[in-house]
Amino acid sequence: MTKPNMNYANLKDSYLFFGIAQKVKKYSEENPDKKILRLGIGDVSLPLCKSVISALTEGVNDQAEKSSFHGYMPECGAPFLRRAIADFYRGRGINVADDEVFVSSGASDELGDILDLFDKENSALVIEPAYPAYVDANIIAGRKIIHLASGIADGFTPEPDEDRISDIIYICSPNNPTGAVFTREKLKKWVDFANKHGSVILFDAAYEAFIEDESVPHSIFEIDGAETCAIEICSLSKTAGFTGTRLGYTVIPKALIRCGMNFNAMWVRNRTTKTNGVSYIIQKGGAAVFTEQGRKEIKENIAYYKENAKILMRVLDGCGIEYTGGVNAPYIWFKCPNGMGSWEFFDLLLEKIRVVGTPGEGFGSCGDGYFRFSTFGSREDTLEAAERLQGLLNSIKV
Ligand code: MLT
Repeated sequence: MTKPNMNYANLKDSYLFFGIAQKVKKYSEENPDKKILRLGIGDVSLPLCKSVISALTEGVNDQAEKSSFHGYMPECGAPFLRRAIADFYRGRGINVADDEVFVSSGASDELGDILDLFDKENSALVIEPAYPAYVDANIIAGRKIIHLASGIADGFTPEPDEDRISDIIYICSPNNPTGAVFTREKLKKWVDFANKHGSVILFDAAYEAFIEDESVPHSIFEIDGAETCAIEICSLSKTAGFTGTRLGYTVIPKALIRCGMNFNAMWVRNRTTKTNGVSYIIQKGGAAVFTEQGRKEIKENIAYYKENAKILMRVLDGCGIEYTGGVNAPYIWFKCPNGMGSWEFFDLLLEKIRVVGTPGEGFGSCGDGYFRFSTFGSREDTLEAAERLQGLLNSIKV
């Protein structure tokens, strides 16, 4: 008889965002006349910028003509996009070769797929609270997970701990869900730790475009020594509104070698076996993000989300509720008022003011008692949610 992957039995019943969506769907079916405001999952609300739309249109037109038509795309990415991304890194003074860049269909897809590079016996260290897919993907693979709890005392950016040595190390900065950022000094400590123990850091840079503070690194490869211990995974979802369009990229330096195996060459072997590349049209649209005009346009969209963050932060400031994020990241992470548990606060917000957020506990047990708002909603929804939240916080006397 076929033996299924029994590790699935070790997962929670449903994935965090799927579970929340089901809960909200049920509420909405039972209360069809109530307007629900969604500040839960980090899904963008602004359309793709003009430069991307014209490049996508050009891509469609190219596919309509025999002379410009593209069939299968190169598995690791179109040369024009790999070059544009590598140029973007080089423009920031980071030495990345075109063939160290791999085009992907998005960071969440890639964060799961990349685990093919690691032995099942490897352990994975997850700094919590954390994007839940890090944990779930490793449970599915049957790996041992080492949880490293972070908190207010370390600014949600802990330092490595010699008692928690791991083969794979996840770092997300700017962080989802806390919005905290790792300083250059802290990242250097992690890089040195990984090199010392032969670990590999999976650096999730999905939110790098939101960094305002000039001293904060956008890439792990700004840190000396990272090229021998890190893989960087990035996405255009949040940077350029590609959540429904799907495009991301991964940087794997050729200097990343363990047990005589070169990770860059392994990923070429993996991609050429497991994919036929990302669609030409989407890659054409993605390349526009790296042009001067494209950069300008996406910055305008990011500024819009940052204004949403300010609206929500004003409410928290007014009630004296402490939070992280909102400045270098599109998430605001705060302690639930009056010592409430995070699911308790979730239910209260849904029932009383019909605002959806994400309970901190969904990002790991140390997230209990915390709550996350996404700032990716529309301005109208954010303003209305802020007003309803203010009313609720006043009424429960925070
Ligand atoms: C989140 O809300 O944490 C993320 O946006 C979800 C995702 O990227 O998959």
